[in-house]
Amino acid sequence: MDTTGWRLVKKRTAQDDGAVYVSADGARYRRTGTAELRREAAFQQMIANLGYPVPRILETGERGDGTFFVDEESLGGQTLHEQVLALLDGGRELSDHVVDQLAEVSSRMLSAQATHPLDSGPDALAQWAEQAGWTHNVFTENPDLDTARVRAAIARATSELTNLPMVRGHLDYGLPNILADGVIDWQHHGLMPLGYDVTLALEIIPFKGGAKGYTASPQQRQRYLAVLDAAARTAGHPPVSPHLGAFLLIKSLFFLALMRPTEPARLDKHQKWHYRRHLFLKGIEQYERTGNIDTALFPTLDAFAAWQDATDRP
Ligand SMILES: Nc1ncnc2c1ncn2[C@@H]1O[C@H](COP(=O)(O)OP(=O)(O)O)[C@@H](O)[C@H]1O
Ligand SMILES: [Mg+2]
Repeated sequence: MDTTGWRLVKKRTAQDDGAVYVSADGARYRRTGTAELRREAAFQQMIANLGYPVPRILETGERGDGTFFVDEESLGGQTLHEQVLALLDGGRELSDHVVDQLAEVSSRMLSAQATHPLDSGPDALAQWAEQAGWTHNVFTENPDLDTARVRAAIARATSELTNLPMVRGHLDYGLPNILADGVIDWQHHGLMPLGYDVTLALEIIPFKGGAKGYTASPQQRQRYLAVLDAAARTAGHPPVSPHLGAFLLIKSLFFLALMRPTEPARLDKHQKWHYRRHLFLKGIEQYERTGNIDTALFPTLDAFAAWQDATDRP
C-alpha cells in the first residue's frame, strides 16, 4: 500500500479478502479485493454516468499480488444508520431528519433508475425473484416450504410486477449503505423491477427483530413512500408503493436465506432461523389475503421467543 496513510475502516462483509480503508485526509475511500471488485467499480462508474447518486470512482489499479484496489470520493460524514444511532437520545424512533435525507437520496436514485430502464428479456423478472430472494437456497434449507402454495405466491408477485420497467439496482439498499449525498457498497448489484430497492429501505428494519435499536413509525414509512410515489410520477411512471407487498414477499425470502444452522447446539441461531420462518409465513399469509404486507405487524425477536417459550411449556 502507498504512503498516504490509509486507515483500515473494516474488513468487507461479503468478500473474503476485501477491506475498506479511508485516506488520512478523509477525502477518499479505498476498497481492496479480487476481480469481483473490479466489476463492482465498473458498474458504479457506469451508473454514476447515468445520474445515480453514487461516489465517483477516482482510481483503480492492480497490485503485484493479483488483488485490486478501487478509490472513490468520500461522501463525507456518517451513514444514515450511524446518524440514527447518534440521534436516538434514549428513545427508539428514527429521527425525521434522517427520513428526509433518505427520501431525498432515494428520489434521486428512483429518478435515475426510471430514466434508464433496460430492455430485458421475458425471464428477467423470474431471474430477479430468484437472485433477490435467494429462493434456491431457501427451498434447499427449508424443503417444507417448497410447496405449490409458496410457488403460487411468488408467481403472483412476479406477475403483479410484469409491467414495471426493469432497472439497475443495489440489492442491499438500506440505511447502513446510504449517506446524505448518495449510496455506497454496490457489490450485490443486479436487475430489478423499478422501486424494489428504494421502497423497502425502512421496511427491512423489522426483519432484524429489534436488534437495530430503532424503528420507523407508520407515519414515517407512509411519508417516505409518498415522496417516492411523487418521484415516480415526475419520471412519468405509476406510483411504486402499491407493489410493496410483492416486493416484501421476495425480501422476506431473502431474509430467510442462509439462516438454517448446521450446529444443533446453537440454540440462538435456531431461534433466529425460526423467527425468519415465522416472518415469512406471516408475510405470505398477509399477501395472499390482502395483496400487501404490513411489517408493523411483525413481532420482535424477543416477543417471538417469549411466545415460543410459552407455547412450548406443558
Ligand atoms: N464513499 C464513501 N464515503 C463515505 N463513507 C464511506 C464510503 N465508502 C465507504 N464508507 C464507509 O465505510 C464503511 C464500509 O464500507 P462498505 O462498502 O459499506 O463495506 P461493507 O461491504 O463491509 O458493508 C461504510 O459503512 C462507511 O462508513
Ligand atoms: Mg456496506
